[in-house]
Amino acid sequence: MKAVLLFFALIFAPFSREGISLDGEWPAIMDQYDKGIDKKMFTDAKPAGKTSFVEFSYEGGLRLKVPGDWNHQDASLWWYEGTIWYSKHFMATKKAGRRTVLYFSGVSQRCEVYLNGEYVTEHEGAFTPFEADITEFIQEGDNFIAVRVDNKRSKEAIPAMSFDWWNYGGITRNVMLLDVPEVYVKDAFLRLDDHSHETIKVDIELSEKTEGVPVIVSLPELKVRKTLYTDSSGRVSGCIKARKLSLWSPETPVLYDITIEAGEDRVSERIGFRDITVEGTKIILNGKPFFFKGISFHEEIPMERRRACSPEDAHVLVDAAIGLGCNAIRLAHYPQNEYIVRYAEEKGLLIWEEIPLWQGIDFSNEETYRKAETYLNEMITRDKNRCSIGFWSISNETRPAPDRDAFLSQLLAYGRSLDHSRLFASAFDVAYYIPEVDEFRMEDAFAGELDVIGINKYMGWYASWPKPASELKWNVFMDKPLIISEFGCEAKAGVTGHSDVASSWSEDYQEALYRDNLTMFENIPNLAGVSPWILFDFLSPYRQHPVNQGWFNRKGLISDKGEKKKAWYVMNEYYKNN
Ligand code: GCU
Repeated sequence: MKAVLLFFALIFAPFSREGISLDGEWPAIMDQYDKGIDKKMFTDAKPAGKTSFVEFSYEGGLRLKVPGDWNHQDASLWWYEGTIWYSKHFMATKKAGRRTVLYFSGVSQRCEVYLNGEYVTEHEGAFTPFEADITEFIQEGDNFIAVRVDNKRSKEAIPAMSFDWWNYGGITRNVMLLDVPEVYVKDAFLRLDDHSHETIKVDIELSEKTEGVPVIVSLPELKVRKTLYTDSSGRVSGCIKARKLSLWSPETPVLYDITIEAGEDRVSERIGFRDITVEGTKIILNGKPFFFKGISFHEEIPMERRRACSPEDAHVLVDAAIGLGCNAIRLAHYPQNEYIVRYAEEKGLLIWEEIPLWQGIDFSNEETYRKAETYLNEMITRDKNRCSIGFWSISNETRPAPDRDAFLSQLLAYGRSLDHSRLFASAFDVAYYIPEVDEFRMEDAFAGELDVIGINKYMGWYASWPKPASELKWNVFMDKPLIISEFGCEAKAGVTGHSDVASSWSEDYQEALYRDNLTMFENIPNLAGVSPWILFDFLSPYRQHPVNQGWFNRKGLISDKGEKKKAWYVMNEYYKNN
């Protein structure tokens, strides 16, 4: 079997790399009982002679659009969780001195990739990119790619067996064939050097371990052009003075053209620079206190019941957050597609990005830990040059326990070894009102290791008010910044009245609950931000009430039909006045 050169993420791909798109229609075959390997569905087999027969065909059957989840593309696939084989013929030419890289922006949930009948690579994790150098597999002329995609949930996966969003399946993000020279820029990380506002720290790795290769970094708008030379591992590390640097912030989302040249490779990007730290209980952005006026949303277009996958979809979600008055977003609960991340950066939204380590994780499983490290590495590798990302979050609503504490502590240390230019957070649902002391408290040894604590608290919904909101006191990690990373309740757009009846599912109840929560938040001395749950109603198998929910979690401030609920106006007013 040919060697496959694997790497996590060809830096700045696919946006700043030449190549051809493999997006479009892919003939596909549902493989409910996973017979595809036995039947050799990784080939485009046709019957030969009079006696042989082939019991599958990619012609005349299912055709799936890529990018996009399969669930919304065919009524028979709506709740499908299983295996589907995707296939495509494409033309290629072999070029001396060039390499061809097959790049997937995201496949949900796991897949194996075959080219011209040969196994090339595999990947697990719906929300991070992967690629493979397929130079040795490409044929001159016609090539046949087959991808076995499987979105079945599993106990040792991340996320595991159940989570409060729909488990869309498919090649949900873009696929590209990228063309790079023999020696290319494989990885790059540019950021401010240890909170200095005039020095850029540069780490670049080439694909070859060759010493003394000149690597030229240019920022033309700053009249900066610096040549660094690789060491024996093919890496350069250095600092570049940039006195006139304007820092990126929600108010001034400044991005710069940067170019990196090495040998025949030349890669260009637009990136920004900002400095985010914690000082006591404050989040400090570029030297000034920052209040996270956030909102969460899933990577979903609820109006069309499908995963978001295009620049237009990114505008729908991000523009709705901007319209609410946000200066930040929590991308729940996984790294969302790059259109969303990059557009939010252009528009000046600070981002909390997280891996989908959501509730019921198998913390005692070594394999699960390796998956978590891979997820964190792939998220950070993909987005470490996105200045809009201020927070890496490594878990959501996990409960204190020896194996969970050890797992998360090790994962946090690993994350910090990859990037210390951002804050590390997690979201917890273990802050409780304790009657004996008449205040909210939280016991969680691991949480104390983080820079910022996220608190998911559903007062008035999953927990009833013990006393009027204005009288409630908080004493939760008083030495750290607290972001209320989730609060809210369900309301079905158009249902009104009964503002004191939770089971009314009314907009008036949701409006009153928002007002009460915002009142209570005034009493949190170390409050550094809020991020209501959630911007839009979203699909989830958890939400089984046929009248009030219809498979939608209705905590959205905007319904699945795009209707703003009364609570939307409460949040908009709050963000305008704070
Ligand atoms: C949790 C969880 C969310 C979920 C929400 C809810 O806090 O983090 O993913 O959707 O509660 O119950 O609506």
